[in-house]
Amino acid sequence: MNILGISAFYHDSAACLVRDGVIVAAGQEERFTRRKHDHRFPTHAIDYCLEEAGIKPSQLDHVAFYDKPLLKFERLLETYIAFAPSGFKSFIQAMPLWIRQKLHLPREMDRGLKHQYKGRYVFCEHHESHSASAFFPSPFEEAAILTLDGVGEWATASYGVGRGNHINVTHELHFPHSFGLLYTAFTYYCGFKPNSGEYKLMGLAPYGEPKYKDVILSRLIDLKPDGSLRMDMSYFNYCQGLTMTSRKFHDLFGGPPRSPESQLTQREMDIAASIQEVTEIAMLRAAEHLHKTTGMKNLCLAGGVALNCVGNGRILREGPFENIWIQPAAGDAGGALGAAMFVWHQLLGKPREVNPDLDSQGGSLLGPAFPVETTRAILDEVGAKYHYIEDEEKLIDTIADAIEGEKVVGHMQGRMEFGPRALGSRSIIGDARSTDMQSVMNLKIKFRESFRPFAPCVLREHVHEYFEMRDQEDSPYMLLVAPVREDKRKPLNGQKTGLDKLKQIRSVVPAITHVDYSARVQTVDKIRHPRMHKIMSRFRDRTGCPVIINTSFNIRGEPIVCTPQDAYRCFMGCNMDVLVVDNFVLYKEEQPEARQHEIDAYKAQFQLD
Ligand SMILES: [Fe+2]
Repeated sequence: MNILGISAFYHDSAACLVRDGVIVAAGQEERFTRRKHDHRFPTHAIDYCLEEAGIKPSQLDHVAFYDKPLLKFERLLETYIAFAPSGFKSFIQAMPLWIRQKLHLPREMDRGLKHQYKGRYVFCEHHESHSASAFFPSPFEEAAILTLDGVGEWATASYGVGRGNHINVTHELHFPHSFGLLYTAFTYYCGFKPNSGEYKLMGLAPYGEPKYKDVILSRLIDLKPDGSLRMDMSYFNYCQGLTMTSRKFHDLFGGPPRSPESQLTQREMDIAASIQEVTEIAMLRAAEHLHKTTGMKNLCLAGGVALNCVGNGRILREGPFENIWIQPAAGDAGGALGAAMFVWHQLLGKPREVNPDLDSQGGSLLGPAFPVETTRAILDEVGAKYHYIEDEEKLIDTIADAIEGEKVVGHMQGRMEFGPRALGSRSIIGDARSTDMQSVMNLKIKFRESFRPFAPCVLREHVHEYFEMRDQEDSPYMLLVAPVREDKRKPLNGQKTGLDKLKQIRSVVPAITHVDYSARVQTVDKIRHPRMHKIMSRFRDRTGCPVIINTSFNIRGEPIVCTPQDAYRCFMGCNMDVLVVDNFVLYKEEQPEARQHEIDAYKAQFQLD
């Protein structure tokens, strides 16, 4: 039985195909259209999913959408009426898309499926989709479920439980009170892009002091003992306006929002630290409450706020649950997966098989892979000079050589990741021990602000040697932040302030150590990622170090690469040294049109994120 799940029209549209309960394929529309956070109907992602499954739209048994558009429309209308006439401008701006597409979803879906699907459409609730995406693929037979989000129809967060093949959403927090929108308001105020720059705010937090924590807790929000909140809406403008924050908010924090791309000051750093601290307190409180009321030992998480990996790390280390599992596509893209799984287990009542050692997310490697001949043809067509290394051992040696030689390596292999993180299949990798890798990668490859360190990949069997995590602790999706162990830290030379702090050598793996000694850890194991495991094991054999840098394979402002064409374009468009596409290896100096890229010329080509 083939079930297609779709999410669209908010941000990060996506599609997912589930066959007999197994996730066959999933992809975000942005990867195919090359438009970041593409929210349009995911025609390309659907085509890919059907192709991967080898079926036509007429062979689909069910098609599910990840939320209920009519309920969402009701929320929009009611909010407008409550604030009228002041919300007129934003209301008018939202209407055309609703009238053209969102209110006519079956028609849009018919069109997207080429009028070949004759069945009915299932519309799940937004938070049911998130909850389903958190629980059904998890390695737990039963678990408490927490979703923390911006907003769906009315719900912005939910508590629930999952048992066997059934989930039950028991409590909801409703719009306009929302942890996601609160965080996004601060993202906007600090000059980053809403619904996109939240991870930058999180990365900025370690530079600041949570000086405004009490102001937030006493004036902006009332955080309840059960982890829910009430917001004082006079500080916010998202119900009625085109901005997130109101003048009253700006007065409280001492000025207008920072303009994007302008100099970051200590004020933004302190504000970031404050809202981050408040979010972590809320996440911990929600976890405590859920644990107390459900008595369960496992927790599943999804929703945009579940991408706050610092908060996730604190729930794991300080919270009451023994185990946690977080849906890697925690944002709205994952809703497509949740909706499809919801139909299979919840609506059709099909049993769920749980593998306690491994989840059912398949390493989140659910996107397209490319056959050797396709890649060869692409590389030939662009005139690339490559080495095809068939022998796996030799290939692993070659890649490990490059990393050890402090080369920046673009690594594309097998199926693309589903979710916002690159996990080794569409990654840029490098030597985490190198003292200048941090700035080399930030400025020459990613062309981005240099205040964020990179994330480490670590061999799972050695994770506890470098990070304050349990022996063999699993973090396959890079969604947990943990401190670098004390014995891997280094004494600081002198005291630096502000963004200069990142230039200080803080540990034996400086490129991945943040200024507060934290790191966003991805564990690599043999089962989910055999190739990466081999590369890293070879690197460790030579250097003794089981840690490398892993950052997403893209340059600033573009989605992560999908095809060999994308990978080659990115390789040639920045100052990357080596490109690996499956068994093809390319060196920059051998390429006919290789040249050094200047940051300003480069940045001018892209809309900055
Ligand atoms: Fe959502």
